[in-house]
Amino acid sequence: MHYENVAGLPLPVLGLGTMRLHGEQCRSIVSAALAEGYRHIDTARSYDNEEDVGAGIRQSSVPRDEIVLVTKVWHTDLAGPDVEEAAESSLRRLGTDYVDVLLVHWPSRAVPLEETLEAFAQVREQGKARFIGVGNFPSTMFEGIAGVPGLIGNQVEYHPYLGQDKILTSARSNGLVVTAYCPLGRAGDLLQDPLLQELAGSYGKTVPQIVLRWLIEQDRVAAIPGTSDPGHLRENVDVFDFELSPDDAAAISSLARGARVVNPPHAPDWD
Ligand SMILES: NC(=O)c1ccc[n+]([C@@H]2O[C@H](COP(=O)([O-])OP(=O)(O)OC[C@H]3O[C@@H](n4cnc5c(N)ncnc54)[C@H](OP(=O)(O)O)[C@@H]3O)[C@@H](O)[C@H]2O)c1
Repeated sequence: MHYENVAGLPLPVLGLGTMRLHGEQCRSIVSAALAEGYRHIDTARSYDNEEDVGAGIRQSSVPRDEIVLVTKVWHTDLAGPDVEEAAESSLRRLGTDYVDVLLVHWPSRAVPLEETLEAFAQVREQGKARFIGVGNFPSTMFEGIAGVPGLIGNQVEYHPYLGQDKILTSARSNGLVVTAYCPLGRAGDLLQDPLLQELAGSYGKTVPQIVLRWLIEQDRVAAIPGTSDPGHLRENVDVFDFELSPDDAAAISSLARGARVVNPPHAPDWD
């Protein structure tokens, strides 16, 4: 099994999303993921599972420094002093001295972005985060911060039913990464799509595998499927033994229809 990093950056192309995992199930899925070869684990303070994610990591035999651990600061904690407190309490719950990536979970309408980024830079200078990043930043907002030191990229919803061309262009021209969340469209209609089912048949793979392969074959894209099922965990990482033809990848891209799964009241104006 081959777990590549996104070009030139210490972020494995495939990670485990842990939203909705709690307690023993969370600990055992995280530790099973590491045993299966996942080296990128995505959590957030708002998932209320950082203690379990940390315990799952310690339960596994994989050393901490081989794991890319990502957590996020909620949009109500983005004022300067709140960022430091949020980062420290995440580290305490995770039981680690540092995270590999600390993300702004959602942009704030209340706190100036400069103030937040300055606080994130301080957390990084203190060695508590190796990289910083953002989540759910529309393309113009993302483009505006592209030169920030230590910035790794933007985590956004991305799957065949929701294109992200502008954000991808911005990431590629600035040497950054797009991490695709809800890469399986949260197992909605996407998994029944006739084209994806046909491709799954012709490649001898499943629809989730076709979708994940389509994502990670793209330049500067990582994907973080979530699962509570050990079988799905294995299936989702078994995507390194085939390649999509350029025509098939283009056909999947043409399914984009602006279908967003995640669009809460605090979401920014998407562009
Ligand atoms: N930055 C943000 O604002 C943000 C927002 C949302 C999510 N995220 C991150 O992105 C991660 C992924 O998103 P998500 O979990 O919402 O959606 P997702 O990964 O698109 O889909 C998860 C759903 O797919 C099912 N599934 C997974 N693998 C499958 C397979 N091989 N076959 C059939 N069904 C499968 C899971 O059910 P089973 O449990 O039965 O496998 C679950 O219901 C989250 O866990 C979180 O870490 C970030």
